Amino acid sequence: VDDKHIKIRQLVPADADLYRGIRLEALQSNPEAYGSTFKVESSKSVTLFADRLTASTVFGAFDGAEIVGIAALLINQGPKEAHKGQLVGMYVRAKSRNRGIGQQLVEAIIESARGRVELIQLAVVSDNLPARRLYSRLGFLEYGTEKKALKQDGRYYDEVLMAKDLSSSGP
Ligand SMILES: CC(C)(COP(=O)(O)OP(=O)(O)OC[C@H]1O[C@@H](n2cnc3c(N)ncnc32)[C@H](O)[C@@H]1OP(=O)(O)O)[C@@H](O)C(=O)NCCC(=O)NCCS
Repeated sequence: VDDKHIKIRQLVPADADLYRGIRLEALQSNPEAYGSTFKVESSKSVTLFADRLTASTVFGAFDGAEIVGIAALLINQGPKEAHKGQLVGMYVRAKSRNRGIGQQLVEAIIESARGRVELIQLAVVSDNLPARRLYSRLGFLEYGTEKKALKQDGRYYDEVLMAKDLSSSGP
């Protein structure tokens, strides 16, 4: 927000290599934060990552030429669910955190979602307090907890479910 050097733009299929690199880094460095795993995604071709950039709306944060963060909006399929989008795959490189880049990425998602969906939902591991604070600052409200939502190496993780209703006024 205060950082003039950071540019946020939507990633296109030509960015697939860049996207794959930072996505795999996210899964490797913060495995507790995501439903997917490095093991699963590192075996996928760059074509799959290019396809994701078409199927969903992915924003990248750039510090010069370097990609330092990503966030994605996935719009639900099916006539009864198409009014909802999911905010997924949020990541800012460790050295670039606490500069407002996460906030800029979520703001880009919200802007992009307006007019396309009525509701943005997300799930965040309950002990991820920095992420929960970020989302609530931007108007996401908690509507439940999924107990034992994820399991890794014998450990369970609860997820807090949050939503931002774009049709109501407010933050
Ligand atoms: C969660 C995550 C995306 C946040 O990204 P970020 O870029 O650090 O987010 P922001 O900078 O907007 O906000 C983080 C903090 O920095 C503060 N901040 C923002 N700009 C600042 C500035 N210029 N100077 C000092 N602090 C600042 C914010 O107030 C916020 O403070 P808080 O933690 O006390 O609430 C990042 O920590 C991350 O990638 N974590 C690992 C993966 C993950 O958990 N993903 C989310 C899965 S749901």
